[in-house]
Amino acid sequence: MTRRGARTARAAGDRREPGGDAGRLLGTGRASPRAGRAGEIGDLVTIAVLEALTFGLSRMVAAAERAGQRLCLLTGGRGVYRHELGRLAPDALDVVDVDTHDVAECAAVLGRLPDLRGLVNSTDTWMRPGAELAARFGLPGPDPAVVRTLRDKRAVRVLLHERGLSRGTAVALPPGPDHTASAALVRDVVGLPAVLKDSAGTGSRNVWLVRDGEQLDAALREAAGRALLGRLFAEPYLTGPLYSAETLSWAGRTRLLGVTGRLLSARWFGREDLLSFPVLLPAPDLAAVDDWVARVLAAAGHTRGFAHVEFVLTSDGPELVEINARIGGCLAGEAMCRSLGVDVYDAMIDMALGRAPALLDTATGTTSGTAGTTGTTGTTGTTGTTGTVETVETVETTGTVETTSDTAATRPTATATVLIYPGRPGTFTGVTGIEDLPSHPGAPEWYPTMAAGTEVGDLGDQRACAGLLLAEGATTELAMYNALSAARGVHPLMDDEW
Ligand SMILES: Nc1ncnc2c1ncn2[C@@H]1O[C@H](COP(=O)(O)OP(=O)(O)OP(=O)(O)O)[C@@H](O)[C@H]1O
Ligand SMILES: [Mg+2]
Repeated sequence: MTRRGARTARAAGDRREPGGDAGRLLGTGRASPRAGRAGEIGDLVTIAVLEALTFGLSRMVAAAERAGQRLCLLTGGRGVYRHELGRLAPDALDVVDVDTHDVAECAAVLGRLPDLRGLVNSTDTWMRPGAELAARFGLPGPDPAVVRTLRDKRAVRVLLHERGLSRGTAVALPPGPDHTASAALVRDVVGLPAVLKDSAGTGSRNVWLVRDGEQLDAALREAAGRALLGRLFAEPYLTGPLYSAETLSWAGRTRLLGVTGRLLSARWFGREDLLSFPVLLPAPDLAAVDDWVARVLAAAGHTRGFAHVEFVLTSDGPELVEINARIGGCLAGEAMCRSLGVDVYDAMIDMALGRAPALLDTATGTTSGTAGTTGTTGTTGTTGTTGTVETVETVETTGTVETTSDTAATRPTATATVLIYPGRPGTFTGVTGIEDLPSHPGAPEWYPTMAAGTEVGDLGDQRACAGLLLAEGATTELAMYNALSAARGVHPLMDDEW
């Protein structure tokens, strides 16, 4: 890989640039009875998956099996899924290697799947083509026009501002060498401090905090040299801790499944270092988030599917950072499954088939966080913070939770995920310390994201993440300490070429 390539190296979640062979039809990469000619693939396939998050594919396959369905993954880079594919039986699903940035190629593959009933579309990058393909094939899916709006952070901000759901608005910054006009727009429409970012950006790439004129000029100069996925725009800088609301919507009704805490780097603006689920919010704050997120999603037109809604909890309440119309990355799905005691991927399959997801009403575990089972817009419960997670007593702070018993299926577990980054640029060769993880409390697990040989030139965003370390705890606080403690022993190795 070239040094320039290093700057597009894949990191956690769906933040990668898949390449790969176009149009070849193969199995899962191991000896597969289903590998081979196009006609052999997909005879049983009922649900296509247009790329996916790095983690969660095996849970998706299991959920499909429970529903009597079979998946076919369309991917331009199956290496992204090596961890997940390595856990699956060779014939657990079909995998088609295709240039997934080529919509016509994808359509051709979908057209060859004989009993296609649904399409799972769970990444930001493929959200728009996925919605358009679903519509073209008459499959259940979101309105492509809504998806176009949701994939435009500037459009969402302007819309929410108009509806009174965002204090500030956003302004598009015209490309070109003369930055004077852009600088004036930022000052006049948004004011300083401001955030400049890519309207379709992912992975915390191309995001600048500007506090004064000098920083504004520098950011505009730097942005002019970057290849953006969308267009540059500016919005107000929001002050406060970052969280995300994990939600599920159907027929316009939204359920808050829980809130994820997000610890940001002190060194690099926007880079995430740790996620924890669920956050123990006081009941009034949780109710406020619940109400706010339902109104934000309704205003943005998101009426169906998961959403991962990042927000800053300012002194004046929640303010949106961005809406991702999918399950969260960096093991957010895994965290929810463990904490809620239900497999949220069943809902993904339900919705791909156009069925109301049972999760909208399912009683979830009574873990040390959110566990609502009532209410029209979702989660209403919080638990105590004692860590005595087995019984209904742990949810006495609200009294709204219809608890379930402490069966294995519902045993509450909080989780925390540390994003592990190299300490310096270089060529990534592997990770040390994984072998010691079993001795740590919290059952820490390593989820690798970076392939050996990846050149890392820039440590400032999530593409530089070597892998995720997830640990559990009886409370979210304990899960965080378990994860952070275990992470101290895990070290990415970089060669000395740089
Ligand atoms: N208006 C804002 N005020 C304060 N911080 C912001 C703002 N916009 C973005 N950020 C910070 O920059 C980070 C990246 O921005 P954003 O989430 O819009 O981009 P992204 O590339 O989609 O990120 P990711 O894929 O990591 O979620 C946010 O997580 C947040 O920490
Ligand atoms: Mg974000």
